[in-house]
Amino acid sequence: MCGIIGCVGRAEQTLNTLVHGLEKLEYRGYDSAGVGVAGDDLSVCKTAGEIEALSQKIAGKQFSGTVGIGHTRWSTHGPPTDNNAHPHQDCTGTVAVVHNGIIENYQTLRDELAANGHTFTSDTDTEVVPHLIEDELETGAAPEAAFRSAISKLEGSYAIAAIVEGTEALFAARNDSPLVIGVGLDEDGNAEADLTSDGPFFIASDVPAFRDFTARVVYLDDGEFARLDGGVQITDQNGTTVEKTIETVSWDAEETGKSGYDHYMLKEIHEQPRALRQCLSGRVDELGGNVDIETVGELSPSRIQFVACGTSYHAALYGSQLLTRAGVPAQAFLASEYATSPPPVGDSLVVGITQSGETADTLSALREADRRGAQTLAVTNTVGSTAARECDHTLYIRSGPEIGVAATKTFVGQLAALNLLTLSTVEKRQTRRQIVPALRDLPGDIQHILDESNAAEIAEEYADSDAYFFIGRRYQYPVALEGALKLKEISYEHAEGFAAGELKHGPLALVTDQTPVFAVVLGDGEVARKTVGNIKEVEARDAPVVAITDGRNDAAMYADHVLEVPETHPRIGAILANVQLQLVAYHIANGLGRPIDKPRNLAKSVTVE
Ligand code: F6R
Repeated sequence: MCGIIGCVGRAEQTLNTLVHGLEKLEYRGYDSAGVGVAGDDLSVCKTAGEIEALSQKIAGKQFSGTVGIGHTRWSTHGPPTDNNAHPHQDCTGTVAVVHNGIIENYQTLRDELAANGHTFTSDTDTEVVPHLIEDELETGAAPEAAFRSAISKLEGSYAIAAIVEGTEALFAARNDSPLVIGVGLDEDGNAEADLTSDGPFFIASDVPAFRDFTARVVYLDDGEFARLDGGVQITDQNGTTVEKTIETVSWDAEETGKSGYDHYMLKEIHEQPRALRQCLSGRVDELGGNVDIETVGELSPSRIQFVACGTSYHAALYGSQLLTRAGVPAQAFLASEYATSPPPVGDSLVVGITQSGETADTLSALREADRRGAQTLAVTNTVGSTAARECDHTLYIRSGPEIGVAATKTFVGQLAALNLLTLSTVEKRQTRRQIVPALRDLPGDIQHILDESNAAEIAEEYADSDAYFFIGRRYQYPVALEGALKLKEISYEHAEGFAAGELKHGPLALVTDQTPVFAVVLGDGEVARKTVGNIKEVEARDAPVVAITDGRNDAAMYADHVLEVPETHPRIGAILANVQLQLVAYHIANGLGRPIDKPRNLAKSVTVE
């Protein structure tokens, strides 16, 4: 997920405004950054690295012009290099474009453009856009018409802003990626300025980028275009003017990085529907029930070993169940214990799951697998990470930057990606026909939970407990482990996850009326019936029970509280149940006043063994 910013009417402040905006958007990605400013000339400066590197590169340069765009990148196509940094330009250097999203038909467009003589200088999907605009300009089209025509050729998700040399206007378009316009105060500080006043105006992926200058915003919707110059004109795909309401954001500039949420963790929990759409985008063909993941499509290993740590290890347990049930024997290993595992045999694949791609234990296990002669695959969120560079194959989960130390949206992204891996390599058409629609509905089902969850009340009810236990079977077992890990790491309370069937073999001795048991029970089959039996066991020992259930079994009858999840296939329902448990952990920790985004003793990326 990248961040884009644009501004018009800031006169000699254009460059500062862009850099300031990028600093506010850095949470969206920090692989590279760049700016472009148009007046009589078009100037572009960009670099790999964080905004700081861009500031140093800009220092001392003169950019004249009152229209500018900027970009901070979270790599999806191509590694984080200077060339892959935005803005991207056409062959003549008179057009500059910044983009957030994924252009799914870029390869076809790129091939056509290259065949017509265009030269490309980056690996990105974005670069087709300035070349498409260039083609239109060459036919004599005006800049705005050229921009609209180029956009009409794109498939995929985008928030795009473009500037053209000699044109004091900025052109923008949105589809499935956020874009918001800021209406600045005029020279007299008139807070009533509207879209017909002289500006300044801003456009960005998120309000924090310009919140220091204005609280008055207009949200663009999918399919809308905006032209920003002396005024803002918003139109639909047919060119018809769309009347929009100016809204005033209620939060102040200090809250910007978190988009109004109290913590990054809560924001990231709420970003999950969008992160999942990114993960699935272009990989799932609903009509044909086919799943196609780039770089991994040709793999057909006879055995799989997963290596991972912490939350990612829970994803590995889930993945090993998916693959084993689909007919490929798979095992999950804690990366730090991999050295004592049986060596991979035959054409084994060793899959390292690591959101950061930098976890030392996981890297070390992957290197060991490589030494043992296995093929390796990294399932990661981080383009250009060590795991991505060193493994034979990479599957990106595309969750966007995760800043809260407790992994939330990346865990959900890992589970979705493991479904894609299993569907694309092993599972038969019949299974694909069941799971693909469930995956398609997943973002909406998560949104439903985020809108309706009663997790906050349950967290309050059990805030003073002695300890918290989480149980589940099969796909719900890794979710129980993850529920406990999430709670312990951010609340500092004692929490443990168990396979529900194991409770009676020891842990039941810990259960009292002061130890709530969170039981994940999905579906109406044998697995659910057995877990309901385990609920009865703890209930008989007076433990309060919270059932996380889709209502297709008797769990609610024996539970003191219920956290509902929408009905779906149990293996996808496990992902939904996890979201309820994320919210429970968050609200318990928040009630205790813990520093949720930076829990004590923990770090986002663990680079020591
Ligand atoms: C827990 C958490 C950690 C990580 C673990 C592995 O919320 O985030 O347990 O999952 O440190 O990190 P990655 O996935 O970056 O390898």
